[in-house]
Amino acid sequence: MLLRPEIRRFARAWAPVALLSLLVLVGCAKDYPQTTLAPKGDFAHIVDGVFWTTFKWAIAVFILVQSALVYAIVRFRARPGAPEPEQHHGNTALEIVWTIIPAAILAFIAVPTVKAIFRTAKEPGAEAVQIEVIGHQWWWEFRYPDLKIVTAGDLHVPMGQTVNLRMTTADVLHSFWIPQFAGKRDVFPRRYNNIWFKAETTGVFTGQCAEFCGTEHARMAFRVVSETPDEFKKWADQQTIGSPMVNGGQVSDSALAASLKAATGDTSANVDSVLARGKAAFMAGGCIGCHAMVGTPMAGMTALVGPNLSHIGSRHTIAAGTLPLNEENLTRWLHDPDEVKPGVLMKLPRALTDDEVKVLVAYLQLHK
Ligand code: CUA
Repeated sequence: MLLRPEIRRFARAWAPVALLSLLVLVGCAKDYPQTTLAPKGDFAHIVDGVFWTTFKWAIAVFILVQSALVYAIVRFRARPGAPEPEQHHGNTALEIVWTIIPAAILAFIAVPTVKAIFRTAKEPGAEAVQIEVIGHQWWWEFRYPDLKIVTAGDLHVPMGQTVNLRMTTADVLHSFWIPQFAGKRDVFPRRYNNIWFKAETTGVFTGQCAEFCGTEHARMAFRVVSETPDEFKKWADQQTIGSPMVNGGQVSDSALAASLKAATGDTSANVDSVLARGKAAFMAGGCIGCHAMVGTPMAGMTALVGPNLSHIGSRHTIAAGTLPLNEENLTRWLHDPDEVKPGVLMKLPRALTDDEVKVLVAYLQLHK
């Protein structure tokens, strides 16, 4: 026997309390980017309001029921020598009461819930920024039809302005989820759903596919980049250079080089060299078979299997939120995408040489 009986009794009595305290402490930990309990937009506040209303009612019910239970346990406990308790079979008044009370509580909760459903299901007006969201195995594509932008991975939104997301999928069912801004919406092929929100703060927030959609479902994430209207406009202007929606994606080599020099602050001839060698490697390596890219003959394509890579250097992550975008991760990804995301649909036609990868990494990072 390792422990004395009194210690074991003590441990048994206090274990549930310790476990509960641990759970509470874990719940208080700071860094949960996908929490729904820290809303950062109007839509999320509506949902959060329904949650807290329901939670308060649940707490009240819990306290009442548990108090009655504890009272009954103590007051009517078996005592030595006590007679057999009086036996009852049914009590009509009591049964009516305990049917009416939960029904009334449900009716109370239904009012804010149904109100919230109607408020969140409404489509915002034409003044909202229109964004098309397309789910793919396993990444998210974003198009801004009015701003003429096609991008992936980063959903840029202007703070303080309502955005309306019109959503569908190019393949299987996915579920679009941005915990701190709005709820979840499933997306279906050849059908359109919508969700909207107005970001009330700037920052980079995470989103995630919330419906099992195949091998890499868990790594089908994205970032919401909420920025000031000025920053948003600056980003949007840069993104339209070589966009498939502007002049069929066509932009002259010199104009592209000039825009990238302005965006990176590097005005040396190195930029021209990276662009020329990178473009050659992009075509020779077979990247062009699946990805649209500004400055290449496929710049105007919107229906290719992989994400549009124009301006990829300005994104926060690669591989749908799996890795931060940097030299090391791009290198790892280009050498063996399947090692980063097993089952990924990006199949290299042939292994890229170290030299090609180096050239491509510099080329991709240059495209701010
Ligand atoms: Cu897409 Cu899960």
